[in-house]
Amino acid sequence: MKGIILAGGSATRLRPLTKITSKQLLPVYDQPMIYYPIQTLVSSGITDILIIISPQYSGQFLNLLGSGKEFGARFSYAIQEEPKGLADAFIVGEDFIDNDNVTMILGDNIFDNHGFAKEIKSFKSGAMVFAKKVTDPERFGVVEFDEEGKVLSIVEKPKESKSDYAVVGLYTYDSRVIKYAKSLKPSARGEIEITDLNNLFLKKGELKVNLFEGLWADAGTFDSLLEVSNYMANKALNAKK
Ligand code: G1P
Repeated sequence: MKGIILAGGSATRLRPLTKITSKQLLPVYDQPMIYYPIQTLVSSGITDILIIISPQYSGQFLNLLGSGKEFGARFSYAIQEEPKGLADAFIVGEDFIDNDNVTMILGDNIFDNHGFAKEIKSFKSGAMVFAKKVTDPERFGVVEFDEEGKVLSIVEKPKESKSDYAVVGLYTYDSRVIKYAKSLKPSARGEIEITDLNNLFLKKGELKVNLFEGLWADAGTFDSLLEVSNYMANKALNAKK
């Protein structure tokens, strides 16, 4: 299993914090944000990791993260010239993925008590995502279930959501993901959507949706960034008690 961390993008929602640096380098309590997705992958048994970054901040990422040795991992880097959507990570990462399975985590997604290792280690083929009950599903990809709890579809940022289950930013696929990502057409926001990719696997009966109960934060807004920083500060405080 290989790993990809997507840390590109321009994070306009966090200006002026992101005027001179990347969102994924901002502090979350006592660590740069990207340390958390790195730790999530490494603790799930994934150590061969491609970090996808935007050209303007590539030097900062290299200075901070280096070879990956410090994290017990091996890092490779790829430049994403323009943010073209989450599914573009599999096109940028084509050579790195090769014929292996891959787990992609978003560079601004922070997890705690995740227990991903078991599911990731037993993954064989197809696609696997995790969904968590949230109060603001319209910000995310939302899972639509039928009466028996079978997944019908995933809808990207629905105005009226069909459920409270949001798809979190960690996705596992087999290497067909490269071919499927290349077949996607850009959405109304001009991006190739990970939700479309997941629906492709779903139509083939090859998407597994696990429910997720640990902590999850998409730290892409001021409020969520503050909230997750406070969570990590409290966790550190409790650990000292
Ligand atoms: C993206 C995905 C969405 C997913 C979310 C998780 O949203 O498009 O399906 O639920 O990440 O953080 P974005 O961050 O691009 O708005």
